[in-house]
Amino acid sequence: MTERIAVIGAGLMGHGIAQIFAAAGHKVALHDPDARILTSAKDRIAAIFTLLEQDPVAIANVGYQSDFAVAVADADFVFEAGPEKLEVKRAIFKTLSDQTKPTAILCTNTSAIPIGQIGAEVADKSRVVGTHYWNPPHLVPLVEVVQAKDTSLATIEKTIALLRAVGKSPVHVRRDIPGFIGNRLQHALKREAIALVANGVCDAETLDTVVKEGFGARMAVLGPLEQSDLVGVNLTLDIHKTLIPDLDRTPGPHPLLVEKVAKGELGMATGRGFRDWTPQQAAEVRKRLSDFLAQSARALRDKKR
Ligand code: NAI
Repeated sequence: MTERIAVIGAGLMGHGIAQIFAAAGHKVALHDPDARILTSAKDRIAAIFTLLEQDPVAIANVGYQSDFAVAVADADFVFEAGPEKLEVKRAIFKTLSDQTKPTAILCTNTSAIPIGQIGAEVADKSRVVGTHYWNPPHLVPLVEVVQAKDTSLATIEKTIALLRAVGKSPVHVRRDIPGFIGNRLQHALKREAIALVANGVCDAETLDTVVKEGFGARMAVLGPLEQSDLVGVNLTLDIHKTLIPDLDRTPGPHPLLVEKVAKGELGMATGRGFRDWTPQQAAEVRKRLSDFLAQSARALRDKKR
């Protein structure tokens, strides 16, 4: 069944989200208040079709709509990918409450803001749901479908069914908690990583090597709990008895992270973060990531065919 999709915000995430639905044959209305960004989305979406070797005929499924009300009027699903600011998102959802069909499902791509707060002024909160895509959304399979206090199970089920039908890997997050599941795991790892570097156990490059060449090498096919079951849950308990008391428990962001930001060491953009980066090295990292994810996405699609 084809659905009418509206995507609000045509930035980094929004144009990729629009591309996913267009490639799967749905009609998409893409809106952004910034005319320059909306216009440039056309080329950025076409580039994804090329990258993924998809039929370019489907590019025509995307309509570029500068009028918010027109973009959302007929939508069955709205995916909001506007700025990560509560007041902006809340205003968008208040407008959506008034300007969409009563059956339309209203999804937000927020990274961290509680879904309940974003939908606070929507009259029927049962249709508000979090859909947390990962960057780049057209290449990373996971979407966390986040149930807020008032989200109905029907909304969750319809959203998961749609995402699965377009080739994503949706999961149901049963509580509206900060960071959902993926970012909690990712940042639990980063907390310890920063502490290891700060404590002089290794440098940042070594830390990254340990992850990429070690447990990271198997993580795409073996989750951490699967791995525990594989080696024996009792082994995990034995390791935790020794290790857990020794792990970092700095309350709040680590002082090393705070210090780096204060010194303007923001990463590749400034040439120095945890490591030093020339523009060429930074470009190589971006290309390596994009090539790897595109190759994985094409392989996954071919497997599903
Ligand atoms: P972005 O800054 O690239 O795009 C945001 C877009 O929203 C811009 O094009 C801007 O013109 C537009 N916009 C500004 N005011 C608006 C309004 N009132 N109504 C509609 N659109 C408006 O940001 P990005 O990275 O695409 O992030 C979008 C959302 O996705 C944020 O909530 C972010 O936290 C979330 N997210 C971002 C990820 C990332 O890695 N960048 C990953 C997962 C989620």
